[in-house]
Amino acid sequence: MDLKEERIYAVFGNPVAHSLSPLMHQAALERMGVRARYVPFCVTDLRRAVEGVRGMNIAGVSVTLPFKTTVIPFLDEVEEKARRIGAVNTLWNDRGCLKGHNTDWLGFIRSLRDRMEIKGKRFAVLGAGGAARAVVFGLLYEGGLPIVVNRTWAKAQSLAEEFGCWSAPWSELAQLRAEVLINTTPVGMAPRTEAAPLPEALLSSFTWVGDLIYRPLKTRLLKEAESLGCRTFNGVDMFVYQGAEQLKIWTGLEPPQEFMREVVWKRLAEDENY
Ligand code: ATR
Repeated sequence: MDLKEERIYAVFGNPVAHSLSPLMHQAALERMGVRARYVPFCVTDLRRAVEGVRGMNIAGVSVTLPFKTTVIPFLDEVEEKARRIGAVNTLWNDRGCLKGHNTDWLGFIRSLRDRMEIKGKRFAVLGAGGAARAVVFGLLYEGGLPIVVNRTWAKAQSLAEEFGCWSAPWSELAQLRAEVLINTTPVGMAPRTEAAPLPEALLSSFTWVGDLIYRPLKTRLLKEAESLGCRTFNGVDMFVYQGAEQLKIWTGLEPPQEFMREVVWKRLAEDENY
């Protein structure tokens, strides 16, 4: 790409005010020496917004809730893994051809790889929505053994059937004998930080407990798991890595991932101290 020309990147969501992508990506693009502006858009008409990407030659877009699935029909191409997950979180305007990618699954897997061997491990995945789909896809891709557990049992079963993995009813969580628990539900997310998806008594059998949530940095689930001696991780690294993978797709350059993590941690810690 021509590094002299100013590029426009964007995030599409609704709401979008809380997104940390503008802060993280703008800082990263500057560090990378790319002349670019990264702009948040609270989208009210997705089809027209995507037309705007073409019409205004926006170079790349992060897509967040609630558009990750509904954006697919408006694109020219969808990369195979994103198609299997059924969600696109990254648009790349490749010389007028709008391509959809999913970097959430890779962000999650990279954050796990930093911590453990995935292959052959059993993972209890709480939830069966869009986030769970990216997690389950990634775990299977890496040779992990996910077991989908969801409040609505039928949804867990149908996800497990589609991806070819196990599911279990919520009532059998205590007997799962999985080493890692991953929460993909929104339970415990700010502002309802007093909530936890599981009673504390069910956590002690897990070696690791992870949460995709990063607001708060430590959910009630993670606090309770830690107090029982489990090792824990939150969703910050997944968020940073999914963003870094977006930057790689858009620019072909290596993003400053440590710096991006620092920027995000600093802002989240500041927000919590208010
Ligand atoms: P996302 O795209 O972020 O994954 P989603 O598709 O709305 O969001 O999925 C949210 C998941 O969290 C669902 O699996 C949901 O369970 P149901 O299928 O039973 O609705 C789960 N979830 C949401 N609130 C929950 C709660 N209070 N307790 C347990 N699970 C909950």
